Amino acid sequence: MQSTANTEHDAWWSAGETPRKPKIAIIGLGYVGLPLALSFVEGGAEVVGLDVDTRKVDALLEGRSYLGTLDDAPVQAAMATGRLRPTSSAAAVAGADAFILCVPTPLTRQREPDMRFIHAAIRSISRYVGAGALVCLESTTYPGTTREVVAELIAQRTGLRPGADFCVAFSPEREDPGNAHFGTRTIPKLVGGMTARCTRRALSLYRVGIDNVVPVSSPEIAEMAKIFENVFRMVNIGLVNELKVACQRFSEGGVDIDVHEVIDAAATKPFGYMRFFPGPGLGGHCIPIDPYYLSWRAREFDAKTRLLEIAGEINAEMPRYVVERLIRGLSRQQKALYGSHLLVVGVAYKDDIDDVRESPALKIIRLLREGGAEVHYHDPHVEALSVADQAVPALADLNADSLADFDAVLLTARHRRVDYEPVLEHAPLIIDTRNIVGRDAVDPERLVKA
Ligand SMILES: NC(=O)c1ccc[n+]([C@@H]2O[C@H](COP(=O)([O-])OP(=O)(O)OC[C@H]3O[C@@H](n4cnc5c(N)ncnc54)[C@H](O)[C@@H]3O)[C@@H](O)[C@H]2O)c1
Repeated sequence: MQSTANTEHDAWWSAGETPRKPKIAIIGLGYVGLPLALSFVEGGAEVVGLDVDTRKVDALLEGRSYLGTLDDAPVQAAMATGRLRPTSSAAAVAGADAFILCVPTPLTRQREPDMRFIHAAIRSISRYVGAGALVCLESTTYPGTTREVVAELIAQRTGLRPGADFCVAFSPEREDPGNAHFGTRTIPKLVGGMTARCTRRALSLYRVGIDNVVPVSSPEIAEMAKIFENVFRMVNIGLVNELKVACQRFSEGGVDIDVHEVIDAAATKPFGYMRFFPGPGLGGHCIPIDPYYLSWRAREFDAKTRLLEIAGEINAEMPRYVVERLIRGLSRQQKALYGSHLLVVGVAYKDDIDDVRESPALKIIRLLREGGAEVHYHDPHVEALSVADQAVPALADLNADSLADFDAVLLTARHRRVDYEPVLEHAPLIIDTRNIVGRDAVDPERLVKA
């Protein structure tokens, strides 16, 4: 569909620090899109938040947050300005100066990029992208997506020329839900436009809601930087997980080495070292997924991504390793996995959040059930849980009575809202994957580090 030229957008961009704040359409109001929308509203922008999930839209209209890491108060404050308009109707984005795509980028079952959400989002907004508008992709993806998919599809659907009639940029999201030190406004934000003008426009846009916006020379640099950041984490977590397994094997062989003490010791070096912690495996929507976007695209250019593949394998083995450690602990007490009653404490993929996407705890629960165990969970952040479409019963309180039914307790996330004392006192066996229990805190027969 051919859009008519809209010089009003051009006027906004060229005026730079203009009295009129931009009208921004944010597509996808999840962990990324909602905090971003709030930041822009706080900066004075008018934001239309488009989401296909009407429950999210309804919650916002009622002033409720649906993210465990975000209180109702900032949502209510944004709604009270009258400048946040949550909607499920695509037509509401008409007339926006900027369109920011914050939709999911998962993997297919074959672990290849699943671009369906990006395609669907573009289908719904294209007709409203006027000449002079900026389209910015925030979803994590493989290098090349902004230019080859987003710009191309919009061009095909509108007849407008990317980089000339409308601007296109990539600005990766670095949101770290639950991080008390950095939020949307204070995390420095990269922007890379298809042309210098696209980058300038993206800079003007993001400066409304973000304190420090950092330009780079192209969308591909920004796309690759985001993936590199996540690969860096994934590889280092893989490395420290491998070290953990090695230390535990050394210890079993009589050369006792506590990996956590090793990490603390190494961290006394003031340069050239960065702390990473071992755990039950990778979780969340980013680290276990994004690197495969890179390896998928790299194959096309005969480029090798071996290190990330190996780190991915090591991390993916961790849930199974935890279960093996549990079986050893149960055997020591003349018990078997089959028929055992187990409690998994902390099912979110990391500490102090409610997100269970890709959480290693879910894989552990699946393995435990396959081994014939009966599994409950306790997590104050997670109200209900299903694994492989089968509900996992929740244990509301941790106390002497409730813990009496369990043969072992697996600690898979360290939440500040969990009181671990009853577990330390009453659990017959503790499988600690997060270094929650000090080595001397309980009888060694009752503690397995995993
Ligand atoms: N969650 C994080 O911490 C984080 C951090 C950095 C980057 N990212 C990346 O940001 C992107 C979004 O992640 P998220 O965690 O916010 O996902 P999310 O699932 O929390 O939110 C995505 C939202 O998009 C909506 N949506 C899907 N298709 C739509 C469409 N066609 N039109 C309108 N809305 C649509 C969904 O209903 C959902 O509310 C992903 O690419 C992710 O990899 C996420």
